[in-house]
Amino acid sequence: MNHKACLLWILLHSAAALFSSALGENAVLKDADSGMDELPTESNAPKGLVKYNMRKGLDLDQEGCYLQTGKKTCLEECSFNATAKTIFIIHGWTMSGMFESWMHKLVSAVMQREREANVIIVDWLVMAQQLYPDAVNHTRAIGHDIANMLNWLQDEQQLPLQNVHLIGYSLGAHVAGYAGTYVRGTIGRITGLDPAGPMFEGVEDEWRLSPDDADFVDVLHTYTREALGVSIGIQQPIGDIDIYPNGGDVQPGCAFGEVLAVASNFMEVMKCEHERAVHLFVDSLMNKDHMSFAYQCTGPDRFKKGICLSCRKNRCNNIGYNARKMRKRRNSKMYLKTRAVTPFGGYHYQMKMHVFNRKQSDNADPTFYVQLYGGHNDTSNIFVDVQRDSVGLNLTNTFLVFTEEDIGDLLKIRLSWEGDAESWHSFWKNVKNNLWSWNSTPSKPVLEVRRIRVKAGETQKKFTFCAEDSSKTEISPGESITFVKCRDGWEVKPRKRLPM
Ligand SMILES: *[C@@H]1O[C@H](CO)[C@@H](O)[C@H](O)[C@H]1NC(C)=O
Ligand SMILES: *[C@@H]1O[C@H](CO)[C@@H](O)[C@H](O)[C@H]1NC(C)=O
Ligand SMILES: *[C@@H]1O[C@H](CO)[C@@H](O)[C@H](O)[C@H]1NC(C)=O
Ligand SMILES: *[C@@H]1O[C@H](CO)[C@@H](O)[C@H](O)[C@H]1NC(C)=O
Repeated sequence: MNHKACLLWILLHSAAALFSSALGENAVLKDADSGMDELPTESNAPKGLVKYNMRKGLDLDQEGCYLQTGKKTCLEECSFNATAKTIFIIHGWTMSGMFESWMHKLVSAVMQREREANVIIVDWLVMAQQLYPDAVNHTRAIGHDIANMLNWLQDEQQLPLQNVHLIGYSLGAHVAGYAGTYVRGTIGRITGLDPAGPMFEGVEDEWRLSPDDADFVDVLHTYTREALGVSIGIQQPIGDIDIYPNGGDVQPGCAFGEVLAVASNFMEVMKCEHERAVHLFVDSLMNKDHMSFAYQCTGPDRFKKGICLSCRKNRCNNIGYNARKMRKRRNSKMYLKTRAVTPFGGYHYQMKMHVFNRKQSDNADPTFYVQLYGGHNDTSNIFVDVQRDSVGLNLTNTFLVFTEEDIGDLLKIRLSWEGDAESWHSFWKNVKNNLWSWNSTPSKPVLEVRRIRVKAGETQKKFTFCAEDSSKTEISPGESITFVKCRDGWEVKPRKRLPM
């Protein structure tokens, strides 16, 4: 048992108590050390503490109806349809003891997308509104309870487990994992939405959500940043595919500045980033026409360099509900960048350019920007982030460009070198004035870029862009070069590895 994990949760719990009048003080003062050494061997949730609220119609204010293991009449009352999809939505740890606002959004998105499905909220709020370690202790029993329900549905209604999809958020993801472990047969799909990290990171497969728990296990990781040695969302890959939007750490639109000292602010950022997984999933249900892709990569740094935008051999997949089951491929880490608000999907471009240094400008440390001109729209200047200290001279630099807008077909690229040509002039004038003995002619740095090779992640199309004016391929601070499409596609296998 990780004591830091407990500490963190107690701290969060205390912080929450300060800001939430809904929470009684006793809960905070409760002895947190009460036997957290072992997970329970007892696996039955006290009867009635788990409720299966089947939703009827889109009016979410209606109470819906309740399924109960062993009660056939409930199935009729709820018009349970055993040949349709059955989707269980499982919440996580709660401080308020109430459903959080994402629940309604998720339920309504699922129901709109799958109109015939049986959509069931697994309500284990009573057991989830406890100190975090206690709530963790209950996940196994809740999972077991869901497995019992599914076994009964299989017996009673010949429910095909392949049509069952469990969607679990935070602790709920591990509950889903246990359900998959205990059920007779194999559940079709489990989606883990930022599965909880504390007390699950690094433990054996059987104690957390894992690829064995369903035929297809897909996981979204949105809050894997560490604090006090633990991360709220689990960092390690635990599914068949594990998607880390924005690297799985900083989610755009969530960080309100760097100062996290104020507890309320910290809580808000935490909630925003942890919950982002749910909102990305909702987005995938609602925006079927604008799907976001994630790309397999060995790590976030390589992805940020634009190295991994390939879709060959199942290396990319749709995110969220639209994810396709792939041939069993465990723990495949996938990445994408997103916008800050819904629709979250954007456009990824891999760009490669060789920066020649032919004029002995060895000390040049250029800051490049690109601006993309498309058939529909243009972007503003985008920083060329080579994920290194500086742009490599006499080297091919690879970088990732992400646009929030669909600019249409990419037509033109403008590369500019931030800086003021004038400032070089005055700089040298100053040097000359102060060091009157200085004799050599001052020179501004000159670099050369002849081509930019582009691969669009979303379309998988490749293009080569050449300088619009073939005599203007040199660039200095304050200047820019414009590139236009010069060949359809780029050669996959260059015949010779000579200068481009
Ligand atoms: C864990 O939960 C079980 C019931 O599921 C309970 O009997 C046991 O006391 C709990 N253990 C701790 C340490 O809370
Ligand atoms: C049950 O679901 C199946 C599959 O979605 C559908 O074809 C059928 O019409 C549904 N039955 C009822 C009574 O709604
Ligand atoms: C780059 O190559 C040029 C020759 O084309 C050479 O003069 C220059 O020193 C090289 N610069 C670096 C940093 O390697
Ligand atoms: C072009 O992009 C800007 C933002 O960069 C946006 O405000 C504008 O609406 C877009 N125009 C079109 C026609 O999409």
